[in-house]
Amino acid sequence: MSHPEKILVTGGCGFIGTNFVRYLFEEAGFDGLLVNVDKLTYSGNPKNLADLAAKAGEKHYRFEKLDITDQAAMAALFDRHGFDLVVHFAAESHVDRSIVGPGEFIQTNIVGTFSLLEAARQAKAKGRPCRFHHVSTDEVYGSLGPTGKFLETTPYDPRSPYSASKASSDHLVRAYAHTYGLDVTVSNCSNNYGPYQFPEKLIPLMICHMLEGKPLPVYGDGKNVRDWLYVRDHCDAVWAIACRGKSGETYNIGGESEWCNIELLRHLCDIVAARLGKPAGAFEPLITYVPDRPGHDRRYAIDCTRIKRELGWKQSVDFQHGLEKTVDWYLGNAAWIKDVQTGEYRAWITRNYADRT
Ligand SMILES: NC(=O)c1ccc[n+]([C@@H]2O[C@H](COP(=O)([O-])OP(=O)(O)OC[C@H]3O[C@@H](n4cnc5c(N)ncnc54)[C@H](O)[C@@H]3O)[C@@H](O)[C@H]2O)c1
Repeated sequence: MSHPEKILVTGGCGFIGTNFVRYLFEEAGFDGLLVNVDKLTYSGNPKNLADLAAKAGEKHYRFEKLDITDQAAMAALFDRHGFDLVVHFAAESHVDRSIVGPGEFIQTNIVGTFSLLEAARQAKAKGRPCRFHHVSTDEVYGSLGPTGKFLETTPYDPRSPYSASKASSDHLVRAYAHTYGLDVTVSNCSNNYGPYQFPEKLIPLMICHMLEGKPLPVYGDGKNVRDWLYVRDHCDAVWAIACRGKSGETYNIGGESEWCNIELLRHLCDIVAARLGKPAGAFEPLITYVPDRPGHDRRYAIDCTRIKRELGWKQSVDFQHGLEKTVDWYLGNAAWIKDVQTGEYRAWITRNYADRT
């Protein structure tokens, strides 16, 4: 499709959603109407976009506090706006939470995606078809040994309630394309990092713990490997796929930057120490090995040749630079950290991870 003018973004107050909305207005020159639907769970913060909302005005940006599982509300929203494009980020996104309580993951990630697909199907039947871009994860592919990479054709093998719920939603999206002729695209991306990431995920959690002098918990032997991508590069890739990707197709997105957790953490410790004027190694004594996550996947690695070759996308931020930018953002946004760490988040952490706070 060419450049859309009416976009529905789901989960726009979360980590990647916030960065994507900012990217559209600040970098991609988007000039249409963007409607951001978010339930504002613990990980959604409407303040992330308050300045942008004021600047863009009602003509270009609207926020709707809604639950994507509310089918009637989703259908009404599609009727009201006649979207050209849906970019679907909204999800329960944290593997640890899915192990403690999978129910919300089934509801939001599967039922929520179903309800959006139904709204898109009804809109198409009413003569207002839209493109549906579904944002997913590399975790659907399972776990790798020391070599090899996930391709778009790698069979699905999800192993946590989170990845199983995302895999299920991916299948539903493809089924709606196949069965109802919906114009869909899917992307499976590796670990993102950058500003506005809720401090339960590895990089912001560790930065926050360093700032508070708390233990830096490392699962198992710390040798699990993840591929890391700076969030703005993910946003750029999603926009390229949404605008220029082939209908019905899937694109892998990755940073081509594999790190095992313990090495990444040591590197992060060095950057934070340097930024704070502390000696190298100042935070190392805080590193604490904790019992491994149940079913912890050993290694993920993404082959993103396809999106590079077909859509001309490539990463623009290398890991060192991206990590420094991320550390600087968290160091400069203490008020944001305090804000998101109050309330439900703190209560949940206390309930489930009393040994790690
Ligand atoms: N973070 C990563 O590294 C990563 C990597 C690959 C793919 N993804 C995918 O990208 C998407 C966004 O991830 P994120 O890290 O920004 O997650 P996040 O947890 O930071 O944000 C999720 C957002 O969805 C909202 N939300 C949750 N349930 C909702 C519901 N029922 N109705 C409406 N809104 C709801 C939350 O309020 C929040 O604003 C997810 O689909 C995730 O699976 C994330």
